Amino acid sequence: MHKVLIVDDEKNMRFFLKEALVKEGYEVTTAENGLEALEAVSCGSFDCVLLDMRMPKMDGIQTLERLLGKTPDTPVIMMTAYGSREVAMDAVRLGAYDYFTKPFDINEMRVVVKRALQKQKLEDEIRKLKGKLDKKYDYEGIIGKSEEMLEVFDLVSKVAKNDITAMIYGESGTGKELIANIIHHKGPRKDFPMVKINCAAIPETLLESELFGYEKGAFTGATQRRLGKFEQADGGTLFLDEIGDMSLMTQAKLLRALEERKVQRLGGNEVISVNIRIIAATNQDLPKAVHNRTFREDLYFRLNVVPIFLPPLRARRGDLPLLIDHFIAENNSRLDKSVRGVSASVMKRMLGYDWPGNVRELENVIQRAVLLSSGDLITEDCLPAPIAESKPVSTQDVSIEFGGSLQEIVENIAAGAEKQLILDALEKNDWSRTKTAELLKICRKSLHNKMKKYGLSDLAKDSEGGDED
Ligand SMILES: Nc1ncnc2c1ncn2[C@@H]1O[C@H](COP(=O)(O)OP(=O)(O)OP(=O)(O)O)[C@@H](O)[C@H]1O
Ligand SMILES: [Mg+2]
Repeated sequence: MHKVLIVDDEKNMRFFLKEALVKEGYEVTTAENGLEALEAVSCGSFDCVLLDMRMPKMDGIQTLERLLGKTPDTPVIMMTAYGSREVAMDAVRLGAYDYFTKPFDINEMRVVVKRALQKQKLEDEIRKLKGKLDKKYDYEGIIGKSEEMLEVFDLVSKVAKNDITAMIYGESGTGKELIANIIHHKGPRKDFPMVKINCAAIPETLLESELFGYEKGAFTGATQRRLGKFEQADGGTLFLDEIGDMSLMTQAKLLRALEERKVQRLGGNEVISVNIRIIAATNQDLPKAVHNRTFREDLYFRLNVVPIFLPPLRARRGDLPLLIDHFIAENNSRLDKSVRGVSASVMKRMLGYDWPGNVRELENVIQRAVLLSSGDLITEDCLPAPIAESKPVSTQDVSIEFGGSLQEIVENIAAGAEKQLILDALEKNDWSRTKTAELLKICRKSLHNKMKKYGLSDLAKDSEGGDED
């Protein structure tokens, strides 16, 4: 059932409208003034609002602005006295859906409300579709819209489905483990264990016993039998992290186990069959290691069935705004904050920085900044020294750096720059939309729409005195 809110200071009018709309099958709530209306939309959602123009204290226009700040997508229909068409047009420019003049024809009113609701439904559908599109840039929690990352998404989903060996290459912090997790959890072995071993973190002498296990008494200190990672992962996935750091001797043993699909615990005779999928990862250049004879070529061929290359963050800077938003949202909910974005100067520093620690570094920087920030925006004083001191990028530099299509690059930069400009102008003008629109030389309606598009409308509602008119 559609919910309609009627806002009018005249009791008779409220009664008359309510009667008519209830007859149409709508669920109707009434409010006597702007404040009551704002309270009503804070408590529940409405599909349409009928708003009287002339009310004591907060008039229709003021109420409209605040309503749109709270629920920018709800159509508001203005009711205005005969002869005040000018004001009504102002309201429409501000974002009201339509208006009619009192005294009005009840049938006309019904039609306008019905149309508004239809439009609302259509926009809802569009939003849902758009939500689906946005999801394209979030594959199971891996964020990215650069061509390189979209290719990774594609490859990862194919590899996951097909139970094949994958080899993930990437610098530190580019998301190798994240990808490995997704391949396992989206794949046919998801109900079996995923067991991880970091070949770089375990001393050479222990690595073998970690992989293959040992029998009681196999060596001093082996007081009881222990299963190795191979056996623990049986049926599931074994993730061999930092495989490039494994010694040639252990490489040989690993290769044999992979070829025979069998392992033997240290100090034992029993040959144990295992059925596992292997995912390996490294931050090293394995072909080069093969060339230098520090990595076995046969093992390389066995592991390198489907190579997945994760680009460093500095090579896909176009993903930065998306990742920044993602980590801000994550930390907002974790730290109970309401940070909305980063200031223009912070964005420029972040785009100019090289991110040697890649996404992990960005994640940490954002977490710290959200924690430190006291306002809606992350400002430069919340950044750690290396980024605060990095050379800010000019937008021209960005386009050279990342590799989407020309149009994507331009759109990306343009949207980012526009949002930042509007934010800066709003801040400069104490969130007065009139002054901001003047400064930017656009009409208020257009400013209103852009603020909506970039999620800035909600910010405005809290700024008192900003919306004078
Ligand atoms: N594209 C991405 N979208 C969202 N989060 C990401 C992305 N890439 C990495 N992360 C996050 O960054 C952090 C580092 O990722 P991960 O541990 O997978 O990197 P790694 O390549 O294994 O790094 P290392 O080589 O240092 O082990 C994790 O918290 C991960 O969730
Ligand atoms: Mg890792």
